[in-house]
Amino acid sequence: MITVSPSLLSCDFLNIEEELKRFEKFDNLWLHLDIMDGHFVPNLTFGHPFVKKMSQNTSTKLDAHLMVSNPEFYVETFKDIALHNFTFHLEATENPLALIKEAKKYFPSVGISIKPGTPIENLSDEVLYSIDLLLVMSVEPGFGGQSFIEETYGRLNQISSKKEALGLNFEIQIDGGVSDSNSQKLLSHGATNLVAGSYIFKAGPAEYQKRVESLRG
Ligand code: DX5
Ligand code: ZN
Repeated sequence: MITVSPSLLSCDFLNIEEELKRFEKFDNLWLHLDIMDGHFVPNLTFGHPFVKKMSQNTSTKLDAHLMVSNPEFYVETFKDIALHNFTFHLEATENPLALIKEAKKYFPSVGISIKPGTPIENLSDEVLYSIDLLLVMSVEPGFGGQSFIEETYGRLNQISSKKEALGLNFEIQIDGGVSDSNSQKLLSHGATNLVAGSYIFKAGPAEYQKRVESLRG
Protein backbone atom coordinates (compact mmCIF):
# COMPACT_ATOMS: atom_id res chain seq x y z
CA MET A 1 0.00 0.00 0.00
CA ILE A 2 1.15 3.52 -0.82
CA THR A 3 2.44 5.51 2.14
CA VAL A 4 0.89 8.93 2.69
CA SER A 5 2.85 11.53 4.67
CA PRO A 6 0.71 14.43 5.85
CA SER A 7 2.95 17.48 6.19
CA LEU A 8 2.48 19.07 9.61
CA LEU A 9 3.61 22.40 8.16
CA SER A 10 -0.08 22.98 7.38
CA CYS A 11 -1.50 21.67 10.68
CA ASP A 12 -2.95 23.65 13.58
CA PHE A 13 0.22 24.28 15.59
CA LEU A 14 -1.67 25.66 18.57
CA ASN A 15 -3.34 22.27 18.93
CA ILE A 16 -0.50 20.05 17.84
CA GLU A 17 -1.18 17.35 20.44
CA GLU A 18 -4.70 16.76 19.10
CA GLU A 19 -3.45 16.94 15.53
CA LEU A 20 -0.89 14.19 16.23
CA LYS A 21 -3.57 11.99 17.83
CA ARG A 22 -5.84 12.28 14.79
CA PHE A 23 -3.45 10.18 12.69
CA GLU A 24 -2.72 7.40 15.17
CA LYS A 25 -5.29 4.98 13.77
CA PHE A 26 -4.13 5.20 10.14
CA ASP A 27 -2.16 2.45 8.38
CA ASN A 28 0.79 3.17 6.10
CA LEU A 29 1.03 6.74 7.24
CA TRP A 30 4.07 8.78 8.24
CA LEU A 31 3.94 12.29 9.67
CA HIS A 32 6.12 14.59 7.58
CA LEU A 33 8.15 17.17 9.52
CA ASP A 34 9.56 20.05 7.49
CA ILE A 35 12.65 21.31 9.25
CA MET A 36 13.84 24.62 7.78
CA ASP A 37 16.75 26.72 8.95
CA GLY A 38 16.14 30.13 7.33
CA HIS A 39 19.36 29.61 5.34
CA PHE A 40 18.99 26.67 2.94
CA VAL A 41 15.42 27.89 2.40
CA PRO A 42 13.92 31.34 3.12
CA ASN A 43 11.70 30.08 5.93
CA LEU A 44 12.18 28.87 9.49
CA THR A 45 10.23 26.16 11.28
CA PHE A 46 11.16 24.05 14.26
CA GLY A 47 14.21 22.33 15.66
CA HIS A 48 15.36 19.60 17.99
CA PRO A 49 13.36 20.33 21.21
CA PHE A 50 10.04 20.58 19.35
CA VAL A 51 10.66 17.47 17.23
CA LYS A 52 11.67 15.55 20.33
CA LYS A 53 8.45 16.54 22.10
CA MET A 54 6.38 15.47 19.10
CA SER A 55 8.16 12.12 18.98
CA GLN A 56 7.24 11.54 22.61
CA ASN A 57 3.58 12.24 21.91
CA THR A 58 2.83 10.00 18.97
CA SER A 59 3.31 6.38 17.95
CA THR A 60 3.04 7.30 14.26
CA LYS A 61 6.23 7.03 12.21
CA LEU A 62 7.97 10.38 11.83
CA ASP A 63 9.41 11.45 8.49
CA ALA A 64 11.90 14.32 8.84
CA HIS A 65 12.60 16.45 5.76
CA LEU A 66 15.66 18.55 6.52
CA MET A 67 15.75 21.72 4.43
CA VAL A 68 18.93 22.90 6.08
CA SER A 69 22.51 23.80 5.33
CA ASN A 70 25.06 21.62 7.09
CA PRO A 71 22.82 18.53 7.47
CA GLU A 72 25.79 16.77 9.14
CA PHE A 73 25.08 18.83 12.25
CA TYR A 74 21.46 17.66 12.30
CA VAL A 75 22.31 13.95 12.15
CA GLU A 76 24.45 14.56 15.19
CA THR A 77 21.79 16.51 17.11
CA PHE A 78 18.71 14.50 16.06
CA LYS A 79 20.19 11.07 16.65
CA ASP A 80 18.51 10.76 20.07
CA ILE A 81 15.04 11.20 18.52
CA ALA A 82 13.08 8.17 17.33
CA LEU A 83 12.59 9.29 13.73
CA HIS A 84 11.57 6.64 11.23
CA ASN A 85 12.97 8.45 8.20
CA PHE A 86 15.65 11.12 7.93
CA THR A 87 15.88 12.93 4.56
CA PHE A 88 18.43 15.62 3.75
CA HIS A 89 19.07 17.56 0.54
CA LEU A 90 21.68 16.49 -2.00
CA GLU A 91 22.37 20.18 -2.69
CA ALA A 92 23.31 20.81 0.95
CA THR A 93 26.22 18.43 1.29
CA GLU A 94 29.57 17.74 -0.36
CA ASN A 95 29.66 14.11 0.65
CA PRO A 96 26.19 12.53 0.54
CA LEU A 97 27.52 8.97 0.80
CA ALA A 98 29.30 9.62 4.09
CA LEU A 99 26.23 11.32 5.51
CA ILE A 100 23.89 8.51 4.45
CA LYS A 101 26.23 6.04 6.15
CA GLU A 102 26.30 8.10 9.34
CA ALA A 103 22.50 8.64 9.40
CA LYS A 104 21.94 4.90 8.90
CA LYS A 105 23.44 4.29 12.31
CA TYR A 106 20.48 6.01 13.96
CA PHE A 107 17.46 5.94 11.66
CA PRO A 108 15.76 2.91 10.04
CA SER A 109 15.24 4.80 6.79
CA VAL A 110 17.46 7.45 5.19
CA GLY A 111 16.48 9.59 2.23
CA ILE A 112 18.01 12.10 -0.17
CA SER A 113 16.00 14.97 -1.59
CA ILE A 114 16.47 16.90 -4.82
CA LYS A 115 15.07 20.32 -5.66
CA PRO A 116 13.10 20.76 -8.92
CA GLY A 117 16.09 22.25 -10.75
CA THR A 118 18.66 19.64 -9.75
CA PRO A 119 19.53 17.28 -12.63
CA ILE A 120 18.78 13.62 -11.94
CA GLU A 121 22.30 12.85 -13.20
CA ASN A 122 23.68 14.51 -10.06
CA LEU A 123 22.56 11.43 -8.14
CA SER A 124 25.37 8.91 -8.45
CA ASP A 125 24.64 5.19 -8.68
CA GLU A 126 26.44 4.78 -5.34
CA VAL A 127 24.01 7.19 -3.72
CA LEU A 128 21.03 5.42 -5.28
CA TYR A 129 22.33 2.09 -3.99
CA SER A 130 22.61 3.48 -0.45
CA ILE A 131 19.30 5.26 0.08
CA ASP A 132 15.96 3.96 1.33
CA LEU A 133 14.05 6.90 -0.14
CA LEU A 134 14.42 9.51 -2.85
CA LEU A 135 12.38 12.65 -2.23
CA VAL A 136 11.63 14.43 -5.48
CA MET A 137 10.51 17.98 -4.76
CA SER A 138 7.61 19.06 -6.95
CA VAL A 139 7.77 22.69 -5.73
CA GLU A 140 10.70 24.86 -4.67
CA PRO A 141 11.27 23.89 -1.03
CA GLY A 142 10.35 26.39 1.67
CA PHE A 143 6.59 26.84 1.77
CA GLY A 144 3.35 24.88 1.76
CA GLY A 145 0.46 25.64 -0.56
CA GLN A 146 2.44 26.12 -3.80
CA SER A 147 1.42 24.82 -7.23
CA PHE A 148 2.71 21.46 -8.42
CA ILE A 149 5.45 21.67 -11.08
CA GLU A 150 4.35 19.57 -14.10
CA GLU A 151 7.93 18.73 -15.16
CA THR A 152 7.98 16.38 -12.16
CA TYR A 153 6.41 13.59 -14.27
CA GLY A 154 9.33 13.59 -16.73
CA ARG A 155 11.78 13.49 -13.83
CA LEU A 156 9.84 10.61 -12.30
CA ASN A 157 10.10 8.68 -15.57
CA GLN A 158 13.87 9.19 -15.59
CA ILE A 159 14.19 8.06 -11.98
CA SER A 160 11.90 5.05 -12.40
CA SER A 161 13.90 3.83 -15.43
CA LYS A 162 17.14 4.24 -13.52
CA LYS A 163 15.73 2.47 -10.47
CA GLU A 164 14.60 -0.44 -12.59
CA ALA A 165 17.85 -0.64 -14.55
CA LEU A 166 19.81 -0.83 -11.30
CA GLY A 167 17.32 -3.29 -9.77
CA LEU A 168 16.75 -1.06 -6.75
CA ASN A 169 13.92 -0.82 -4.31
CA PHE A 170 14.04 2.66 -2.71
CA GLU A 171 10.84 4.57 -2.05
CA ILE A 172 10.09 7.49 -4.36
CA GLN A 173 8.45 10.29 -2.40
CA ILE A 174 6.85 13.37 -3.96
CA ASP A 175 6.46 16.59 -1.99
CA GLY A 176 4.72 19.80 -3.02
CA GLY A 177 1.31 20.56 -4.48
CA VAL A 178 0.09 16.97 -4.16
CA SER A 179 -3.68 16.43 -4.15
CA ASP A 180 -6.25 13.98 -5.51
CA SER A 181 -5.97 15.77 -8.86
CA ASN A 182 -2.42 14.50 -9.50
CA SER A 183 -1.89 11.57 -7.11
CA GLN A 184 -2.94 8.81 -9.52
CA LYS A 185 -0.71 10.12 -12.26
CA LEU A 186 2.18 10.35 -9.80
CA LEU A 187 1.67 6.76 -8.69
CA SER A 188 1.50 5.55 -12.29
CA HIS A 189 4.86 7.28 -12.92
CA GLY A 190 6.53 5.41 -10.07
CA ALA A 191 5.86 7.40 -6.89
CA THR A 192 5.40 5.18 -3.82
CA ASN A 193 5.06 7.78 -1.07
CA LEU A 194 3.07 11.02 -1.24
CA VAL A 195 3.52 14.05 1.02
CA ALA A 196 0.53 16.37 1.26
CA GLY A 197 0.14 19.40 3.49
CA SER A 198 -2.52 21.89 2.50
CA TYR A 199 -4.63 19.30 0.65
CA ILE A 200 -5.15 17.28 3.85
CA PHE A 201 -5.22 19.97 6.52
CA LYS A 202 -7.27 22.65 4.81
CA ALA A 203 -10.24 20.27 4.76
CA GLY A 204 -10.47 20.13 8.58
CA PRO A 205 -10.10 17.15 10.96
CA ALA A 206 -13.36 15.42 10.02
CA GLU A 207 -12.04 14.99 6.47
CA TYR A 208 -8.47 13.86 7.18
CA GLN A 209 -9.15 10.17 6.68
CA LYS A 210 -11.08 10.71 3.45
CA ARG A 211 -8.36 12.96 2.07
CA VAL A 212 -5.60 10.49 2.95
CA GLU A 213 -7.53 7.64 1.28
CA SER A 214 -8.28 9.75 -1.80
CA LEU A 215 -4.56 10.02 -2.50
CA ARG A 216 -4.24 6.25 -2.70
CA GLY A 217 -6.98 6.05 -5.32
C1 DX5 B 1 7.69 22.49 1.18
C2 DX5 B 1 7.60 21.32 2.10
C3 DX5 B 1 6.37 20.52 1.95
C4 DX5 B 1 5.07 21.27 2.18
C5 DX5 B 1 4.07 20.68 1.23
O1 DX5 B 1 8.98 22.94 1.17
O2 DX5 B 1 8.68 20.43 1.90
O3 DX5 B 1 6.39 19.33 2.74
O4 DX5 B 1 4.57 21.22 3.48
O5 DX5 B 1 2.92 21.42 1.29
P1 DX5 B 1 1.77 21.32 0.20
O6 DX5 B 1 1.31 19.89 0.19
O7 DX5 B 1 0.76 22.28 0.71
O8 DX5 B 1 2.38 21.73 -1.11
ZN1 ZN C 1 8.58 18.46 2.95
